[in-house]
Amino acid sequence: MTNKYKYFVANWKMYGGLNTVNSLHRVIKFLKTFKKSKNIKIVYCPPSTLIRPMSKKLLNTTIQVGAQNCHESQNYGASTGYINSSMLKSVGAKYVILGHSENRQSGETDKLINLKIKSAINSGLKVIFCIGETLSQKKKKITKQILSKQIKSGLNKVKKRKNIIIAYEPVWSIGTGVIPKPDELFRTIDFIKKKVKNNKVLYGGSVNPKNIHQLKLINNINGFLVGGASQQSKKFIDIIKKTFI
Ligand code: 13P
Repeated sequence: MTNKYKYFVANWKMYGGLNTVNSLHRVIKFLKTFKKSKNIKIVYCPPSTLIRPMSKKLLNTTIQVGAQNCHESQNYGASTGYINSSMLKSVGAKYVILGHSENRQSGETDKLINLKIKSAINSGLKVIFCIGETLSQKKKKITKQILSKQIKSGLNKVKKRKNIIIAYEPVWSIGTGVIPKPDELFRTIDFIKKKVKNNKVLYGGSVNPKNIHQLKLINNINGFLVGGASQQSKKFIDIIKKTFI
């Protein structure tokens, strides 16, 4: 791959307890000897309960921590069960994933995601903005329309665009073991890049140590957003290593 940095973002979703934070020592150790460590950026996005302990564990390393979602308001408020972007920042998050399809499926609209992105940027977080079509949209051949709409609405009047990283995650690929065909993926990433101009674009959806050989050849991808396979340090390290072989 031709780009300067490659991102490896771990989305732990609703998995992990305090003890799992210790498993990161393997990744920390790996990075110390890995020759390409200057060419990679690793971001761990654990559940919010682990942001603080993980930030502490990763102090003095190059690995950064992110959150998986945030409330759209930057201020404290009467919103039971929610956490806002400045609260996440205050416990060590540097990034936040927004617009993930699992949250879109439970009712998040493009408009709400746009408000969340603005709030996160205002709080000084970098945003990993997820977009992607469902299987039925793909079958209807409206992927480009869907992605355009998600990008246009999500980034409407967003300042500091340089703090946005796009993650293309086709919904039909998440957790299914199925990945897009290489030429199809190249063209979709290219389409997104033309829309957003200077933003990095990651791919997410069933990335694992077995298919990374294929995915790494798609040279317009700036990195990977990894779900299931990121929960085991060994698999995550394998993905990173194999990207550079
Ligand atoms: P999987 O890697 O488990 O398919 O999940 C992808 C994802 O949703 C990352 O955000």
